[in-house]
Amino acid sequence: MTIADDTSQTPEQVADPAPVATTPGGDEWWRSAVIYQIYPRSFADANGDGMGDLAGITARLTALAELGVDAIWLSPFYRSPQRDGGYDVSDYCDVDPIFGTLEDFGRLQERAHELGLRVIVDLVPNHTSSEHAWFEEALAAPEGSRERARYIFRDGRGENGDVPPNNWESVFGGRAWTRTARPDGSPGQWYLHLFDESQPDLDWSNPEVRAEFVRILRFWLDRGVDGFRVDVAHGLVKEEGLPDYAKPLTGGSMGGAGVPLTPEIEAEAAQEPPTPPYWGQEGVHEIYREWRRVLDEYEGDRMLVAEAWVDPLPKLAKWVRPDEMDQAFNFAYLETPWEGPALRRVIADSLSAFGAVGAPSTWVLSNHDVVRHASRLALTAENPQGAGIGPNSDGKPIPDLGIRRARAASLLMLALPGSAYVYQGEDLGLPEVIDLPDEARQDPTWYRTGGERYGRDGCRVPIPWEASAPAYGFSPTGRTWLPQPEEWAELARDAQQGVPGSTLELYRRALELRREHGLGRGAIEWLPGYSEQVVALVVGEVTVVANTGETPVELPAGEVLLSSEPLSEAALPADTTVWLRVSG
Ligand code: BGC
Repeated sequence: MTIADDTSQTPEQVADPAPVATTPGGDEWWRSAVIYQIYPRSFADANGDGMGDLAGITARLTALAELGVDAIWLSPFYRSPQRDGGYDVSDYCDVDPIFGTLEDFGRLQERAHELGLRVIVDLVPNHTSSEHAWFEEALAAPEGSRERARYIFRDGRGENGDVPPNNWESVFGGRAWTRTARPDGSPGQWYLHLFDESQPDLDWSNPEVRAEFVRILRFWLDRGVDGFRVDVAHGLVKEEGLPDYAKPLTGGSMGGAGVPLTPEIEAEAAQEPPTPPYWGQEGVHEIYREWRRVLDEYEGDRMLVAEAWVDPLPKLAKWVRPDEMDQAFNFAYLETPWEGPALRRVIADSLSAFGAVGAPSTWVLSNHDVVRHASRLALTAENPQGAGIGPNSDGKPIPDLGIRRARAASLLMLALPGSAYVYQGEDLGLPEVIDLPDEARQDPTWYRTGGERYGRDGCRVPIPWEASAPAYGFSPTGRTWLPQPEEWAELARDAQQGVPGSTLELYRRALELRREHGLGRGAIEWLPGYSEQVVALVVGEVTVVANTGETPVELPAGEVLLSSEPLSEAALPADTTVWLRVSG
C-alpha cells in the first residue's frame, strides 16, 4: 500500500479503531437501502399553481428509478394549514388539497411499487396543527376537560397566571407556551408548543393519544406504505412535572443535539450529556415498542426511521433496539465537518453504536431542515443548525469548494455499509439558495426570531428538471412558491443527464456500483498508513479513499471505478474521493 505524501502526521497519529462489522441481522430491504427524500412542496408541480403535488411526483418517479434509489420518503402531504411546511397536520388521514387527494396518493404508491421503489411516509406525532379538530375542541372545552387532556395545558405562574408555566423555549425561537383566552375574553391557561404556536404538543401520557396514532399507523399500513419516518421521535414524552430547563435551549434548530464527535466532545460524550426535560425521555421507548408490534402484524418488512436529535450515538442507538424502530437518522454524521479525523471517528462510532444493538447505521448529508451540503461544507463561519444562510449572514460558502466537497462527501457516504439518505436536488449538486427576498420566506423560524435566523427556506427551493422550460420544468406555468435562481438552468436534470462528470451521473454511477458490489452490506476495514486528513477504507472488494486535506495523495495501483473529480495519474487531489479496485 502506498503512503500519503503529506508527512505532517505520522501513522501513529492516525491510528484507527479495529475493523468493524456491520449490517448485522437479517436481509430486510431497509438495512442497505438508499432512500430518496421528496419534499412534496418543491419536487414537481403538475397543476401549475406553483406548489408541488402528488401527481407531479408520480409523473417524475421514473427519474428516481433511473437514478437507482431503493425507496422514497415523502415529507408530509396531509391536510395542513402549512404554517410549518406541512409539519403542522390538521388531518393525518387525508391529503391536503394543495397536494391532491387520497386517490392521487394511491396512484403515486402504485407507480412507485411498479418501478420497484418502496414508499415511506412521514408521521408527525409530537404535535398537531392548531387547526386539528382535537385542538379546536380543546380550546372550546373547559379547563380540566377530556378535550384539553389530549394536549399540555397548564395554568400560568404568578399572581395573575401571566408567567408561562416554565422556562422552555420554542425550537423556532421565542417561548414554548402560548396563553389562551376564555370564552369571555379573559386570559386563560397556557398550552405547550415546542415548535410554532400553531403546533400544540400532544400529551403522550394520555392513552387516547396513543390509540389515535395506532389508528393512523394502521390507516397507512392498510394502504400499503412500506414505512414511516417519525418526526421529532425524541420529543413525545416530557419529564414529569414539566420542570424548568436549567440550560435553556439556544442555537440549533432541533435542540443542539447531534454534536460532531471531536476529541473534546468524545471525552464529554463518555458521560451522558444533560437531557432537557423535553428530549430523549425514557418513556418514548415504550411507545415505539407498541408501534413495532403493530408493524410486525403486516407483511413485507415495514419499517420505522426515527428523526431523533439525540447524542451521543450509543444513546441514539436505543431508538433502534430490536423491539423498537429500524433506523435512526445519523445526524452526528451530517454535522461532522469535512475533516479526516472527525469523519473516521464518526464512521467508527456509528458502526459500533448501531451494530451493538443489531441495527444498520444510516448516513445522511442533507435534508429539508439543514443548509444543503454543497454549501454547508464550504462555510467560512460558524452556522448553528437551523440558522440558515441569507444575504446578511457571516461566512457565506465558497461556491466551487462547496460543490467539490459535496461530491467527495457524497461518494464517501454512498460507499458506507448501512442505509443512505439522499435529499432531493443533492443529486444535481444544488447549493443552498442564499438571496431569497425576505417577503418570500415562509419558515416560522424567520418570523419567530424577527429575522435573526433565516431558517430553512434556502434548502427548500423548487428543484430544476429542464433547463429551458418554465420554472425549469418544476411547474408548467412557471409559478414557484419560492423563486429559483437563474444559475439553476445549468443544474437542471436534463442538462446533466448523460453528461460525463456531472453530479447527476456521479450519483447514478455510484448507486449502480454500490448495488453491483454490495457496498450497503458487509464490513469496512480501515487502511493504515495514510495521513490524518485521508479517510481510507475497504468495503468488500472496493477501496475508498477520500482526501479532505490540501495535499494530493498517492493512490495504490488499480482500476478507478469512480472518482468525484477527474484524476491525473495516480494522485488523488484535495477534496476528492475515489473508489478503486486495487490490483493484486
Ligand atoms: C421536521 C421539521 C419540522 C419540525 C416540527 C422536524 O424535525 O423535520 O421540518 O419543522 O420537526 O415538526
